[in-house]
Amino acid sequence: MSGRTVLLTGATGYIASHTWLALLAQGWRVVGVDDFSNSSPKVFDRLQAMAGRSLAFQRADVCDKSAMNSVFAHYRPDAVVHFAALKAVGESVVAPLAYYRNNLMGLLNVCDVMRTHDCHHLVFSSSATVYGVPERLPITEDAPLSATNPYGQTKLMGETVLRDLCASDERWRVACLRYFNPVGAHESGRIGEDPRGTPNNLMPYVAQVAVGRLDKLQVYGNDYDTPDGTGVRDYIHVDDVADGHVAALRYLFNTARSVTVNLGTGQGYSVLDVVKAFARASGRPVPYVVVPRRPGDVAACYADPTRAAELLGWRAGHGLARMCQDSWRWQQMNPQGFETPSPA
Ligand SMILES: NC(=O)c1ccc[n+]([C@@H]2O[C@H](COP(=O)([O-])OP(=O)(O)OC[C@H]3O[C@@H](n4cnc5c(N)ncnc54)[C@H](O)[C@@H]3O)[C@@H](O)[C@H]2O)c1
Repeated sequence: MSGRTVLLTGATGYIASHTWLALLAQGWRVVGVDDFSNSSPKVFDRLQAMAGRSLAFQRADVCDKSAMNSVFAHYRPDAVVHFAALKAVGESVVAPLAYYRNNLMGLLNVCDVMRTHDCHHLVFSSSATVYGVPERLPITEDAPLSATNPYGQTKLMGETVLRDLCASDERWRVACLRYFNPVGAHESGRIGEDPRGTPNNLMPYVAQVAVGRLDKLQVYGNDYDTPDGTGVRDYIHVDDVADGHVAALRYLFNTARSVTVNLGTGQGYSVLDVVKAFARASGRPVPYVVVPRRPGDVAACYADPTRAAELLGWRAGHGLARMCQDSWRWQQMNPQGFETPSPA
C-alpha cells in the first residue's frame, strides 16, 4: 500500500495513535486530524519522536466542513479511517444531543467531503455496543442489532448511514469494524490510554488502583451467570485493533468490497480474571470491593472473530497477560498520562 495516503480523524486518540504507527510501519502515508477535545497535542509530539520524522497533522473539528475541505484539498487522501467521536456511554445518556451532533454530524460531514474530493474508501470505528443485549455467544456479525443508550445509537445509525451510502453509489468501499474492549498500550510505554478524570473502563481503572492513584476497584455485581459471577468481556490489545485497521484498508483496496467485522479475540475474561492478571503483571495488589450491578450491564459479551480471520486475514495475537503488562508499563512510565514529562 506504499504511496497511498490515509486520513485519520480523531488521530491523537487512544486507538488512532496506535493505528497511526501500524500504518506507517506498513508503508502508508498518514495525515491526522483532531480537535483535541479528548486528547492532548503531546500525543502528536510523542508519535513524531517514535516515528523519528515529522508527521502530517491538522488541528480541526470534523464537523467543520470548510476546515475538512482544506485538509482534503491539501493532502488528497485515498482513504479515511474515521475514529473521531465522543465515546462515554454514561455521558451520552446525560448529554444525548452532544453525542448525536458530534458523532453523526461528524460522520455525515466526513462522507460529504470525501465524496466532493472523489475519495470513497472508508473505515468506520463501530463497536460491539451495536449488539445491545446479546442473545447468543459468541456474537457473530449477523446477530440482531440494537442500542441501549445514545452512544450506541450513534454507532448503529452510523452503520445505517454507511450501508445506505454504499447502496446509493457503487464507488463506496466501507469497512465497519466492531471493536470489543480495546485495552493495553504500545510496548514502548510511550503511548497508551489517558482517560480524563476517573476512568470509565476497567483496565485503566485497575492500573490506577495498582499504582496507588485510586483506592480500590468497585466490582459491579458478582451474581451474574458467569463462572465467577462477575461480568465477562472480550478484551483485545490495542495493537491488535490497530492491525485490524491496516488489514481492513488492504481488504478495501484489494477486493473492492465493503465489509462489517468484529474485532475481538473470541475469548471472554471476567472482571476478577483481569484483576488477577493485572496483579500478576504489576506485582502489586489490586484491592476491590463488590457493589450492586450497574443498570444496563450485560453478563457476558465476546466475539466470534471468524469473519475477520476469513476475510481480512486478521486475528488477535496478544493474550491477557500481555495486555496487562503493556498497560502497567504505560501506567508506570506515565503516572500523569501525557502530562508526564516525555522520556522521548
Ligand atoms: N475505546 C473503546 O473502548 C472503544 C470501543 C468501541 C468503539 N470505540 C470507538 O473508537 C473510536 C476511537 O476511540 P478511542 O477509544 O480511541 O477514543 P478517544 O477519545 O481516545 O479518541 C477519539 C479522538 O477523537 C477526537 N475527536 C472527538 N470529536 C472530534 C471532532 N468533532 N473533531 C475532531 N476530533 C474529534 C478526540 O479528541 C480524540 O482524540 C471512537 O469512535 C469510539 O467510539 C472505542
